Amino acid sequence: MPKLSVRDLDARGKRVLVRVDYNVPLEEKDGQMVVTDSTRIKETLPTLELLVSKGARIILAAHLGRPKGQREATMSLRPIAIMLAEMISRPVAFVDDCVGEKVEKTAGALKDGDILLLENTRFYPEEESNDPSFAGKLAKIADAYVNDAFGAAHRAHASTEGVARVVAARGGQCAAGLLMERELKFLGEELDSPVRPFVVILGGAKVSDKIKVIDRLLDKADTILIGGAMAYTFKLAQGFKIGKSLVEPDKTSVALEALAKSGKRGVKFLLPTDNVVATPVKTDKLNKKGKPIIDLTNPRINAEANISDAEEGVDIGPATAAAYAAELAKAKTILWNGPMGIFEDKRFAEGTNAVARAVADATRQNGAKSIIGGGDSVKALNKAGLGDTVTFMSTGGGASLEFLEGAVLPGVAAFSDK
Ligand code: 3PG
Ligand code: MG
Repeated sequence: MPKLSVRDLDARGKRVLVRVDYNVPLEEKDGQMVVTDSTRIKETLPTLELLVSKGARIILAAHLGRPKGQREATMSLRPIAIMLAEMISRPVAFVDDCVGEKVEKTAGALKDGDILLLENTRFYPEEESNDPSFAGKLAKIADAYVNDAFGAAHRAHASTEGVARVVAARGGQCAAGLLMERELKFLGEELDSPVRPFVVILGGAKVSDKIKVIDRLLDKADTILIGGAMAYTFKLAQGFKIGKSLVEPDKTSVALEALAKSGKRGVKFLLPTDNVVATPVKTDKLNKKGKPIIDLTNPRINAEANISDAEEGVDIGPATAAAYAAELAKAKTILWNGPMGIFEDKRFAEGTNAVARAVADATRQNGAKSIIGGGDSVKALNKAGLGDTVTFMSTGGGASLEFLEGAVLPGVAAFSDK
């Protein structure tokens, strides 16, 4: 059954509670919290503009950071209200709470087209425990509910799931926002029947984080390219030496099963054939968690399949990058999730950048549909200045992974049928 869209919502004069994901990266500058990447705010503007044009009275709810049920000044949404007002060129009111009298009074005074942002829902422990009575308090000011927070849709929290049930039980409508719809389209429908060849690039640290996604994509993809530290678990499983590389030794059987399945399905499954390696050296400096900082020294290209005992793999090598780029040049559909190496360090970013360029080229030159599964790959593309060249970049991290695994996200399950 198709789900209700914000497009279908009868919103004039109604108070519409809109859950957005404004969990954006912030940095302190001269005692002020400054947003360092406003993508998640920008991506909600179409939904908000549509609701304004429909004459809705808009009440925005969101979380920021992980304040663990306490008020935490550095995690206030107040700076976001100021930023949103600039971006949408309209006033945005703010209340320093998300439930209670003050909220009810301000929401009650809204006129058609007005926008109000509520304070961080996670200042209450009841948000994450999805407490029904707290969900009821959130719902008190809502005639209808719209969820545009794809990035938080894997959380069954009061503002993402519980509140929808309360609104629906009262006969109110619960609709998907335009960003939510786009996310579900590109990470869902578009990959269900992809134009072939369908090439998937997966990176990141752990096989255990990605194995469910790999397993599902082995049923759909023509080619899977593996990078990141995850590759070393596969290499270890195949009997290669991986030195001091990051690895999950207890996941080698899982890796072998994936390789066997790729063989049976006729999926081309490529692992790095060369690597950038470095020698880790412990320093006396401690990191924030009190653990010694490791310097990665003497970086070099290792063209062999084995890595020496003293070294660790930190990026894919140039031959692997070229081989992966050649596969991407043949693709008509591309899904990319996870960097190829420690790309935050310039010395180990070339593999990830090469993939970013290959994805951008395939999109621009061959008309491939390129879908970026959120998190670090989005960061890497933007860092390389190539963010605008791909077809779609997800605003979800954990949410996009769980969705790609085939999970039904609690925030998505809550929508009314059309
Ligand atoms: C995210 O940034 O991943 C989402 O906003 C969800 O946040 P969380 O991981 O703290 O639940
Ligand atoms: Mg997260």
